[in-house]
Amino acid sequence: MRALLATDDLARLDLQTAGVGDSVSAALSRLDLPDAPRVLELGCGTGVLTAELLRALPAAVVDAVDQDRQALQTAAERVDGAVSWHWSTAGDHLRAYSDYHLVICRLFLMHQPAPAALMRTARRSLAVGGALVAIEFDLGAALWHPTCPSLERVLRAAGDCTARARDAGIAVPDPFLGRQLVSLARRSGYDRWHVQAVSRTVTADSGEQVDREARNLLGVLAMVQPLLLATGDATGEDFDAVTELVHGWSDSPDFFSLQTMLTLVATLDRQRS
Ligand SMILES: C[S@@+](CC[C@H](N)C(=O)[O-])C[C@H]1O[C@@H](n2cnc3c(N)ncnc32)[C@H](O)[C@@H]1O
Repeated sequence: MRALLATDDLARLDLQTAGVGDSVSAALSRLDLPDAPRVLELGCGTGVLTAELLRALPAAVVDAVDQDRQALQTAAERVDGAVSWHWSTAGDHLRAYSDYHLVICRLFLMHQPAPAALMRTARRSLAVGGALVAIEFDLGAALWHPTCPSLERVLRAAGDCTARARDAGIAVPDPFLGRQLVSLARRSGYDRWHVQAVSRTVTADSGEQVDREARNLLGVLAMVQPLLLATGDATGEDFDAVTELVHGWSDSPDFFSLQTMLTLVATLDRQRS
């Protein structure tokens, strides 16, 4: 069986940049932030979101946190602006710092074993009237054409298996987190919440983007591949068929994909009852 993905995790983050600016502006348009807000970014990775934040809020005072030292170093080298970089877990940082007007994260909650607990801790680090913004995706809100039965099978199995594994306390990323954002906001004690979607399509005439879509999907599936093979919910032949299908996309004149990012804006009232 072929390995699904040749790129490493840090390289994969660079495949997931499309539409970040749209998600950030959609979220910020719902907030009434001060001129120089105190902002905390959780799980900043290589700084894709940090750069957009600084573009949208040039006067912001930004703390960016990641537990991966190499990612943090890459971010610090590539992002030009006033950011304090913190090598820490999100939980430790949130327990030590407070009074943020905005806590923001992207493709981060899906990696947390207990996202509601993390969001509760983030709530306590917010200033009065502050906001949490979480940008996540959901594999069920994506379409690809051409497809094949193995891809459909692997996607279905990914949902069943990750839900079962997480219920059993096994730490695996949750590629279906987007649909849970409302429930997570309610359970973690915010006063108001809103989820909005930013979608984009890629077709054969989008050039290099087809290849990025292909590599990104393989990267996401690589996260759940060991689990699906271990449980027997998908087979090596399924993954081979998916790899072959995806590699053929860049030559297909009919290629179409739809990707949707979901953005939660969860706020605290200025006067809490
Ligand atoms: C998928 S990446 C997303 C990076 C970035 N937010 C982006 O949009 O490109 C997730 C990042 O969160 C970091 N991370 C995951 N859990 C963490 C935690 N509990 N504390 C700190 N960083 C965490 C990982 O090290 C990784 O860099």
